[in-house]
Amino acid sequence: MAGRRRAWPGVSGRPRRAGRREVTVVIGLGAAVLVLIALSAAVASHSVAREQALDEAERTTRRMADLVVAPLLAGYVAHDRDDADDLVEAVRVRKADGYLDDVVVWSDDGTVVFSDRPEEVGRRPQPTPRNVAAALAGRTTSMLEDDAPEPRRVGGTEDDQDGPPRYVDVVVPLRVAGLTPLALEAYYDYDRVDRVADDLLRQSLPLVVVPLLTLQLVQVPIVVSLARRLVRHEAERARLLERALSASDRERARLSADLHDGPIQDLAGLGYAVGAIAPDVPERHRALMAQVQQTLREAVENLRGLMADLYPPHLGGAGLDEALATLVAPLREAGTDVTLHVGELGPLGDDTTVALYRVAREALANVTKHARASHVEVSAERVPPAHGRGLVRLEVGDDGAGIDPARLHRRRDEHLGLRLVGDQVAALGGRLSVAPRPGGGTRVHVELPVGEVGEGVPKPP
Ligand SMILES: Nc1ncnc2c1ncn2[C@@H]1O[C@H](COP(=O)(O)OP(=O)(O)OP(=O)(O)O)[C@@H](O)[C@H]1O
Ligand SMILES: [Mg+2]
Repeated sequence: MAGRRRAWPGVSGRPRRAGRREVTVVIGLGAAVLVLIALSAAVASHSVAREQALDEAERTTRRMADLVVAPLLAGYVAHDRDDADDLVEAVRVRKADGYLDDVVVWSDDGTVVFSDRPEEVGRRPQPTPRNVAAALAGRTTSMLEDDAPEPRRVGGTEDDQDGPPRYVDVVVPLRVAGLTPLALEAYYDYDRVDRVADDLLRQSLPLVVVPLLTLQLVQVPIVVSLARRLVRHEAERARLLERALSASDRERARLSADLHDGPIQDLAGLGYAVGAIAPDVPERHRALMAQVQQTLREAVENLRGLMADLYPPHLGGAGLDEALATLVAPLREAGTDVTLHVGELGPLGDDTTVALYRVAREALANVTKHARASHVEVSAERVPPAHGRGLVRLEVGDDGAGIDPARLHRRRDEHLGLRLVGDQVAALGGRLSVAPRPGGGTRVHVELPVGEVGEGVPKPP
């Protein structure tokens, strides 16, 4: 039976699918955690690389100020040709590896007194850049910049053609004997920051990700095995329940047959016998005799009702009509307003009829158990064939508490009623849906194929 079951929309999937879904969820979550950790590591290594880059740029600039620029600047300012050439050469050498991009010396009034680009010398941007002013006041600053170095930006020609270049901009105080306080500004290529970040990431990522990945891989077979066990367990439960239901059906049939063949026949026979002697009873006992006959008739009728209740009459065409009427009777007796409409159903196969009956029985049992409804509508009709395939449709709607769709999809072993009938419907090529009813309450809707094509559908397990 388990092998032939199909998923049926609206209520829940097959246990096997559900098992697969859980494995996918666990593996998916693990993969998501890995990606999250990798992203965090990338962000962290980039931030560490930035810190390192700023520190290194500050150290390099301070060394350049003290060891290279300060000894030559006094001569440069005094137009000493040798010092000037040495200074330009020293800066050129340091720029050779591409890390240092630009060097500018600012005087205390914000004028460029030295730049390796001679056209910048003498320029005095207004206002004095803030980091230059800070350095003139004795403070070192460093920052990451998206723009070209200040003199070129103001001059405005180079380097703006290929998107924004990025720089580390450092300004340090520069003290030269005999001169007012100065500031040395140096720009460094930001690419090095990216390279350091990449190196850090390359080193740190495997340390974090490999153990996690290993853990994930070790977990997968365990999760799969647990899921399989869960699926087996659930299939077993469903099988046991199904067997219990069939056993209960068989028991009902046996009781019903016993009732029919025993008490009902006996009482009916007694009724005939009493009827036969009734005319000969003395006048004074006639009323009592009529009462006995009436009581016997009622007893037979009640027992027949009980028999039908235990095991519905042969189901087929009009039989379903009768069986549905029997099913709704207890609800009516309990004061619920029940509308029952059964259209012309025509000949239905036994399997189809039994499946419809079972759906109705489960849906009405659920109304009694869960809905607290005041009105219930039960309808069954045949839908005209389309493309050679006819359908029979059954609906049970109530105006009760309503159903939370989440509850239907939640896998709870102890609630199997709808799933079992849903599986039976699916095995016959039909469709069962349970959904909130527009206007409140719940609606159970089932469609089963009938007619030429429907006859070919698989039988229930
Ligand atoms: N007509 C309804 N109104 C409100 N809730 C419903 C209705 N029908 C079903 N439910 C909800 O859907 C759940 C699943 O129903 P299902 O018939 O599968 O299980 P059950 O009735 O709880 O148990 P079982 O049928 O196995 O004895 C129910 O527990 C109930 O919460
Ligand atoms: Mg139920």
